Amino acid sequence: MRSIKSLILGLVPTLASAGTLAPRQSSGITVDLSRTYQTMDGFGTSEAFQRAVTMQRLSEEEQRKFLDLMFSMDKGAGLSILRNGIGSSPDMRDDHMVSIQPKNPGGPKATPQYVWDKSDNGQVWVSREAVHTYGVKTIYANAWSAPGYMKTNGNDANGGSLCGVSGASCSSGDWKQAFADYLVQYIKFYAAENITVTHLGFLNEPDYTTSYASMRSSGTQAADFIKVLRPTLDRNDLSNVIINCCDTMGWSTMNSMLSQMRSVESMVGVTTGHSYTSGPTSQLSTKAKSWMTEAADNNGAWTSAWYSNGGAGEGFTWANNIYSAIASGNVSAYLYWIGGQDRPSNTNSKMIRVVNKKVDPSKRLWAMGNWSRFVRPGAVRVGTSGSGLRTTAFRNVDGTVSIQVINSGGATTVSITLNNAGGLTVGSATAWVTDNTRDLTEIGAKVDASGRVTGSVPQRSMVTFVLKPGEKK
Ligand SMILES: *[C@@H]1O[C@H](CO)[C@@H](O)[C@H](O)[C@H]1NC(C)=O
Ligand SMILES: *[C@@H]1O[C@H](CO)[C@@H](O)[C@H](O)[C@H]1NC(C)=O
Ligand SMILES: *[C@@H]1O[C@H](CO)[C@@H](O)[C@H](O)[C@H]1NC(C)=O
Repeated sequence: MRSIKSLILGLVPTLASAGTLAPRQSSGITVDLSRTYQTMDGFGTSEAFQRAVTMQRLSEEEQRKFLDLMFSMDKGAGLSILRNGIGSSPDMRDDHMVSIQPKNPGGPKATPQYVWDKSDNGQVWVSREAVHTYGVKTIYANAWSAPGYMKTNGNDANGGSLCGVSGASCSSGDWKQAFADYLVQYIKFYAAENITVTHLGFLNEPDYTTSYASMRSSGTQAADFIKVLRPTLDRNDLSNVIINCCDTMGWSTMNSMLSQMRSVESMVGVTTGHSYTSGPTSQLSTKAKSWMTEAADNNGAWTSAWYSNGGAGEGFTWANNIYSAIASGNVSAYLYWIGGQDRPSNTNSKMIRVVNKKVDPSKRLWAMGNWSRFVRPGAVRVGTSGSGLRTTAFRNVDGTVSIQVINSGGATTVSITLNNAGGLTVGSATAWVTDNTRDLTEIGAKVDASGRVTGSVPQRSMVTFVLKPGEKK
């Protein structure tokens, strides 16, 4: 326990640091286009657990504002990934996600009795808008659990395991194939709505038992199921669907699961982990792509600040969290837990809240946008060096090079040089700043005769420079 005195003393540096910081020396940043890292799939969020249903209750005008904030490239964050929850519940009580087969058809070998309500807990609406209005290409469908009748505990909540994986035998039999068929049917229902599910996950936080949909799994048990799931997808002309695994509660837990999953390494397209019990501060021990598929400030009271004292819900904190996940965790995607919701909870678990039936975005959404709008799917991260600032750079598919500079200190200027550009010259450059007072305001960036780009980076800001190619030399 800290004494009251030390608590008060502990506050002093925070208060002092809220003011103007001493300017720092200007620094050079070298972007090395020949040093390449991960290819990006994008940035995203989820409307699972009936959050989509709550947004559908708003007026059409507010629904559009919400969708624009999420996916629009000029009015919003330009998110490029949507993570949907595959329901496992027999009903839609509270925020339960109803299953496409709410009742046991009579055992794993019985003819399935699927039902499709064309809403899927509101997620068909969001997915259709994302894909057809805004051009989102990546839909990640993720089951939190199998339906209860397929599990050792007979309940889709409170843990339990899938009947038929190692160490989980049930008197009702082996449900692995039935669950794989179920997931395939879910993808087919979406296909019938003209929505292509690109990624499929069958676990969410398998290292955690809780009172909502949850299913335990070790790496060995996940591998047992993947050996059934992959061929089932392939037999159903779904060989393009990528298997994601395992959405562990913490990032480092994923490494222990992976150590038991070497036999299915070639079948898992994307390794996924969350940020709750440990964050993505180092890369996972896999050759597959990695996505950070869930993070949020689930406890702090709602804030829409960019920077006030470095709190867990502030925009600048999230700009930095995303930076670490990309630069240190080697992630190809970063997903915040919830996009928008109209529920009584007043925490930062979502990026957009609803007040008096109107949508209200936080700076967490804009922090995501400051990455998502400039680092598009397919962008390849390239090397940066030379400054004391947190920097990343990407070569986008359209040929632009975008450079993110996060400055936790005093105001400074940077000069950016491209190395090993293979004859590419800088035709023009722009920069946008986000800080306490500015919201992605365009600020000048200069290009000199040698192609060097200079611009200023205010204190505690995130500045994105976008370099458009000119003539080839
Ligand atoms: C399905 O989606 C594609 C891509 O957006 C679109 O071109 C096509 O018209 C849609 N088909 C139907 C039947 O809605
Ligand atoms: C980063 O991830 C990619 C897959 O996206 C992988 O090929 C690469 O080896 C990883 N980087 C390092 C340094 O391991
Ligand atoms: C970057 O963040 C600011 C808020 O701090 C926001 O106003 C701006 O629109 C964001 N930019 C993008 C591209 O999302």
